[in-house]
Amino acid sequence: MNKILSKNQLAAHTFNIEVEAPLIARSYRAGNFVIIRIEDKSERLPISVSKVNPERGSITIVVKEVNHSTARLVSLEPGDTIKDIVGPLGTPIKIETYGTILFVCDDIGSAIAIPIISALKKANNRILVLLSSEDEGIGLMMENIREVADAVFYIGANNDDITESLKTALTNNKVDKIICISTQKFMHQSSIFSIKYQIPCDVYLRTIMVDGTGMCGACRLTIGGKIRFVCIDGPWFDGCKINWEELIMRTSDVKALKIEEKKPNYTINDF
Ligand code: FES
Repeated sequence: MNKILSKNQLAAHTFNIEVEAPLIARSYRAGNFVIIRIEDKSERLPISVSKVNPERGSITIVVKEVNHSTARLVSLEPGDTIKDIVGPLGTPIKIETYGTILFVCDDIGSAIAIPIISALKKANNRILVLLSSEDEGIGLMMENIREVADAVFYIGANNDDITESLKTALTNNKVDKIICISTQKFMHQSSIFSIKYQIPCDVYLRTIMVDGTGMCGACRLTIGGKIRFVCIDGPWFDGCKINWEELIMRTSDVKALKIEEKKPNYTINDF
């Protein structure tokens, strides 16, 4: 059992929840995630980590209320317990000196990005952030990310916002790498831009997961023509190598896309 130590609200439906998990806190690396089971018969929820505190023996998870299970999780209060947490899972992101890095984040993505930005800043990178959100009350999120990044721009959450902002950021800055932690639609768009501008682009995939060990196949996808599993090979992938059509068809984001947008109108060889 893991006890909840604190909870604070970041945006309308997004919360940081600090949970006791000393072993995970000690071995976490930037970009890992965990799988949570709230009660015995609950579904297993892959959840991102926004902070670790090895001295306190805790990790802080970031949860957006989007369905029954996440609503149950955010309804828990300090002192309540979670059945179990498995982690840290996945392959951490590579921390290197790239130069200028453009982060494209939605509200939950910006919370995930904070420990990653801190690690990349220590490696002498300059960090620009495009923060997209439908929620105008994201003041706390902006404040938190401003503390670690060199510049943050709020860009709203529709297609035109992200397209224009990406164009402007990539035209006005010599960007050496793009990192996108957002919706599939925005990660797909960022990957298209990265191919056009010939800048490497890492994306953070969030898919359905069951066991988190590479056995069940729930998180399977095709990267560069090869089968990969988000739980063990990810969650970080080269956005230009992802078979987006397959990924979109396998996940619920398909509902968020117009039919004609489901099929990417490019291949890697077109650029
Ligand atoms: Fe089962 Fe990844 S969650 S293979």
